[in-house]
Amino acid sequence: MVHATSSVLLLLSLALLAPGLSAKKCSLTGKWINDLGSNMTIGAVNSKGEFSGSYLTAVTSTSNEIRVSPLQGTQNNINRNSQPTFGFTVNWKFSESTTVFTGQCFVDKNGKEVLKTMWLLRSRVGDIGDDWKATMVGNNVFTRLRTLKE
Ligand code: BTN
Repeated sequence: MVHATSSVLLLLSLALLAPGLSAKKCSLTGKWINDLGSNMTIGAVNSKGEFSGSYLTAVTSTSNEIRVSPLQGTQNNINRNSQPTFGFTVNWKFSESTTVFTGQCFVDKNGKEVLKTMWLLRSRVGDIGDDWKATMVGNNVFTRLRTLKE
């Protein structure tokens, strides 16, 4: 009787744990491409959720020559969610603008990781009277770039 009860308990706990064990985690680390063709590389996310990386935009609001620019961000680690929210800032090295992105790292129905983001692009203006037109808003969808080895 004791044996039967413990077997039932074991089966129950396995049934409860199994979905959590099989859920694929969305990881920010790696190389990504977005719907504009911009490329982004994100390094390891540390224990505080902090990460850094680099961004090569495919487009610019300026006439300057595009250069790779650094990014710094944080991932929300509360509850160690498998589809975490995050934010990062790109400090453009070829323009006086700054972009902030915020989004969520999802695993889609095909098991593919996708970053759904929104961004604010702040351009520098020379006059406070032009502040009203200095910020653009948009969204980008990033998918993981796979190397030939993978
Ligand atoms: C600038 O034009 O001043 C800097 C480059 C801005 C590129 C923007 S950031 C939002 C959007 N997503 C991209 O991948 N590129 C553009």
